[in-house]
Amino acid sequence: VLIIHQVTLDAAVLTAARRAWLSPDEEARAARMHRESVAARWRVAHVALRAVLAPVVSVAPSEVRFAADATGRPVLDHPAAPQFSLSHAGDQALIAVGGTAPLGVDLELVRPVAELDDIARTHFASEEHATLVDAREPERTQRFFRIWTRKEAYLKAIGVGVGPRLPRVAVSADARDARLLRDDDAPDAPRQWSVCDLALATPYVGALAVRSLEARWQLVQWRP
Ligand SMILES: CC(C)(COP(=O)(O)OP(=O)(O)OC[C@H]1O[C@@H](n2cnc3c(N)ncnc32)[C@H](O)[C@@H]1OP(=O)(O)O)[C@@H](O)C(=O)NCCC(=O)NCCS
Repeated sequence: VLIIHQVTLDAAVLTAARRAWLSPDEEARAARMHRESVAARWRVAHVALRAVLAPVVSVAPSEVRFAADATGRPVLDHPAAPQFSLSHAGDQALIAVGGTAPLGVDLELVRPVAELDDIARTHFASEEHATLVDAREPERTQRFFRIWTRKEAYLKAIGVGVGPRLPRVAVSADARDARLLRDDDAPDAPRQWSVCDLALATPYVGALAVRSLEARWQLVQWRP
């Protein structure tokens, strides 16, 4: 069973002992952030990531080693390590930990998007854009983020993320039917992947993509 840990990015989690888990690289990334509040949340997300992954690879949180795969996706640099995915938005983060099947999570804060139609026309697949044209608010914005998180979860799982592949992948827009409809670069993908919405409190939306047709997952609240 895949576990998705939901983390509240509360700076109070950052005791000196936990902050010391972060690597010099992680501290350097946080230090480059323009706002201290953003850096603090980022540090909490990475403290939680280390806390979640440490028991899984049987080392202390400070000893968890990360590497990047060929696409730049972060992976665990430990033997027989599971797949994981991290997403953060607002004061929340999601950390999914699975087995060997590639997976991705995406979390977004539903908010008004001034350029919604332009973004969807440029970066969404044509059938995704079409589902937004006639939709009325607030369903339109909800639908935009539903599509976005489903799509981004899949693109993160395959290590691609945001970029030129966005319009070449189509997901469903229907609230009751989450699925991958097509990937122009991987025609078999819809028969291999599950896409699921995560039941999160408003205004957050989140989705999980996993290369398995029997995706079983559980959402748990992470506690330091
Ligand atoms: C990584 C990326 C997916 C982030 O998306 P986002 O919605 O802003 O942020 P999320 O919180 O959902 O995800 C961030 C996490 O994804 C993971 N990630 C980073 N690169 C990734 C990749 N290539 N594939 C999958 N996951 C990735 C990391 O764990 C990252 O967490 P961190 O930034 O705290 O280390 C996006 O920046 C991206 O696509 N990057 C790779 C390609 C790229 O550089 N595109 C920009 C030019 S078009």
